[in-house]
Amino acid sequence: MMDAPVQSTYAEAYRRWQQDPEGFWAEKAEAVHWHRRWNKVFDPSLGVYGQWFAGGELNTAENCLDRHVAAGRGAQPALIWDSPMTGRKVSFSYAELRDRTARVAGALAQLGVRRGDRVIIYMPMVPEAAISMLACARLGAIHSVVFGGFGAAELASRISDAKPRAIVSASCGLEPGRVVAYKPLLDEAIALAAHKPESCLILQREQARAELIRGRDHDFAEAEAAAHPHEPVPVAATDPLYILYTSGTTGRPKGIVRDNGGHAVALLNSMRMIYGVGAGDVYWAGSDVGWVVGHSYIVYAPLLAGCTTIMYEGKPVGTPDAGAYWRVCAEHGVRVFFTAPTGIRAIKQQDPEAKLMARYDLSRLEALFLAGERCDPPTALWAAEKLGKPVVDHWWQTETGWAITAGFREFGLFAPKPGSAGRPAPGYDLQVLDDSGKVLPRGQSGNFAVRLPLPPGASPTLWQNDEGFRAAYLADFPGWYRTGDAGYIDEDGDVWVMGRTDDIINVAGHRLSTGAMEEVLASHPNVAECAVIGARDAVKGEVPVGLVVLKAGISRPHAAIAEELVALVRERIGPVAAFKEVYVVPRLPKTRSGKILRASIRRLANGEPPAPPPTIEDPAALDEVKSAFAGRG
Ligand code: COA
Ligand code: AMP
Repeated sequence: MMDAPVQSTYAEAYRRWQQDPEGFWAEKAEAVHWHRRWNKVFDPSLGVYGQWFAGGELNTAENCLDRHVAAGRGAQPALIWDSPMTGRKVSFSYAELRDRTARVAGALAQLGVRRGDRVIIYMPMVPEAAISMLACARLGAIHSVVFGGFGAAELASRISDAKPRAIVSASCGLEPGRVVAYKPLLDEAIALAAHKPESCLILQREQARAELIRGRDHDFAEAEAAAHPHEPVPVAATDPLYILYTSGTTGRPKGIVRDNGGHAVALLNSMRMIYGVGAGDVYWAGSDVGWVVGHSYIVYAPLLAGCTTIMYEGKPVGTPDAGAYWRVCAEHGVRVFFTAPTGIRAIKQQDPEAKLMARYDLSRLEALFLAGERCDPPTALWAAEKLGKPVVDHWWQTETGWAITAGFREFGLFAPKPGSAGRPAPGYDLQVLDDSGKVLPRGQSGNFAVRLPLPPGASPTLWQNDEGFRAAYLADFPGWYRTGDAGYIDEDGDVWVMGRTDDIINVAGHRLSTGAMEEVLASHPNVAECAVIGARDAVKGEVPVGLVVLKAGISRPHAAIAEELVALVRERIGPVAAFKEVYVVPRLPKTRSGKILRASIRRLANGEPPAPPPTIEDPAALDEVKSAFAGRG
C-alpha cells in the first residue's frame, strides 16, 4: 500500500518531533484560536510532570464552534444525529450548534455554574449530551460525563469525587427492547453520594418522562428556551476541560483530567495527521460520549477541525440489522469511520458474506480506524477485504486522549500488519521496559512505557489527586509513564499490544476492572473468597467470569447464590459489566505464598491447559476449577 518515500515521511515527521518537541507543538498550536499566547510551550516546573502551553488562554468551545462560524462555515452541518432507536435524524449547522450551546451555557450559568465548577453529564446518545459538554467548556466549567450503562453506585462514586454543582441528565436511554429510565438511577445515585448537587437539568424524552423534584430539578428544554446566550469564557490552557473516570486497579475509579490548551492542539493535529480529514469532511466515531473515544472523536476533535461529526444512537447489529453502520456511512457520506473491533466482529458474525454491506454505496469512505481493544487479525482482514479500504488499528487510552500508536494518513499509511497497532505518533517516545525498568531491544516483550513528558492532550494528573497519578503511572519506572499494556516493537518499528499487565479487562471495547467486580462479589454475605478473570469471547473480546468460595456452613443452592451475585454486579456496576457467569468452587487455586493463579484460571476458562505454576499450594484446586468450567459455552 505504501512505498518507500512515503514511509520516510513518517520517519521524517517523527524525527522532526524528536529533535525539537517544543517547536513541533508550537507550530501545531498556531491552528488554535488563543485569547492569550502561551509563555512557555512546555513548562517542566508545573504540575506532576510539567504542563503544556502555560500562560496561554483560550476557550475550547469557541474553537469548536464560533471560530468556524466566523470563518464562514456557519451553514455547514456540524453534527448529524442519527438515531435508529427513535427513527429520527437531525442535522445541526455550526451556527445552530453554537447557538444551542450558548443558550445551554446560559441555562447552566443561571443555575450558578461558573468557571472551575464541575458538572456531571449522565445522558444517552442525544445531541443534548454533546451540547451540554460544549456548554460547560464555554463557561470554563469542568464536565464529567458518566456512561449510561453504569449503575447508580458507580454514578454515586463519581458524584462524591467530582462534587458537581449541577448534573445534566435525561429521563431515559433507549436500548434494544427496553427503555432505561435514567432518572430513578440518578435519584438513587444522589441519595447514595456524599456530595449533593444544587440542581439537575433533565432532558425529557417522550419514551419515558421523568418526575422532577421541585426546587432541585429543572426541565432542560424550558431552561434552554428561557436562557440568554452566554459568551465563551477564556480559561487558562492548563485549566481542566473535563474529568473522565475510568477503571483503575481497585474498585475506586480514577478521575482522568484533561486540560484545555494541550488537548485542543493535540486533537486538532490528530485529525489531519492520523485520520487525514479536515474542514468540511464527514467523520464518524461509532462510540458513546461516555467513553474517551466519544469525548475526543465524536465531540471535540471533529468540531475543532471543522468536520461534520455523526452521533449515532444505535448498535452495530439489531438496529435494525448488521448493515446499520454501512447505511450510516453511505447516507451521510462518511470519509473516515472509527469504531471498536467488537462492533465489526458482531457484524461479521451476522453478515459473514457482507451482503448487507454490499447494499450501500461506500465509495466516499476512505478508511476504517479501530481501537478500544486489540483487533484480532481475522477481524481486521475480513473488514479490509470486504470494504476494500485501509483498516487501521490504533492504540490509546483514556489517559492519553489520543493515539499512542497509529497509522498516519498525512504521511501515507504503512503496509498494514493485521494485529499490529501501527507506529508511535510524533509526541510519544514509546519503549518496551523489563520489570526493572531497563529498555528492551526490538522484538522482546515487556511493559510499554512512554518517556516523560507525555505529549499535549494526555492527562496531566488525576482529579485532585497528584499523588494517585504518581503512584498509578510514574512510580514503577522513574522518568516514564507506565501504560499498563504489554507487548513488543518489531524490527520494522511496528507496535504489537498484546494485553494488560493489571486486572483491567476489555469487554466489548469497554474498559472494566475485575478488581471492582471482585469487591462486589466479596460483599455478598455468603462469599468467603472470590476471583474474577476475563475469558475469551467471540464477539465481545473478553467477558468477566467469576469464581466464588462460600463461607463454611452455607448450604443454599449454588444457582440461587450465583443469580444473586449476577444481579448484584449489574446493580452496583451496571449492565455494561456484562457479568453473567459465576461458579462456586470449594477453593481457589493459589501459589504457596497465597497468590491466586489468575492466569491459570483464565486459561482453563478458555479451554486451555493451565500454565504450569511454579509453587502451587494444592494442585487439586485447578481440577476443581476445570470441572466448574466444564459446562461453559
Ligand atoms: N445505557 C444503559 N444500558 C446500556 C448502555 C447504555 N448506554 N449501553 C449498554 N447497555 C447495556 C445493554 O443493554 C446490555 O444490557 P443487557 O445485559 O440487559 O443485554 C449490557 O449493557 C451490555 O451491553 P453491550 O456491551 O452493548 O452488549 P450487547 O450484548 O447488548 O451488544 C455489541 C454487543 C458488540 C453489539 C455491543 O457491545 C456494541 O455495540 N459494541 C460496540 C461498542 C463500541 O463501539 N464501543 C466503542 C468504544 S471505543
Ligand atoms: P480505554 O481507556 O477505555 O480507552 O481503554 C484503554 C485500553 O484498551 C488500553 O490500555 C488497552 O489495554 C486497550 N486498547 C485500546 N486500544 C487498543 C488497541 N488498538 N490494541 C490493543 N489494545 C487496545
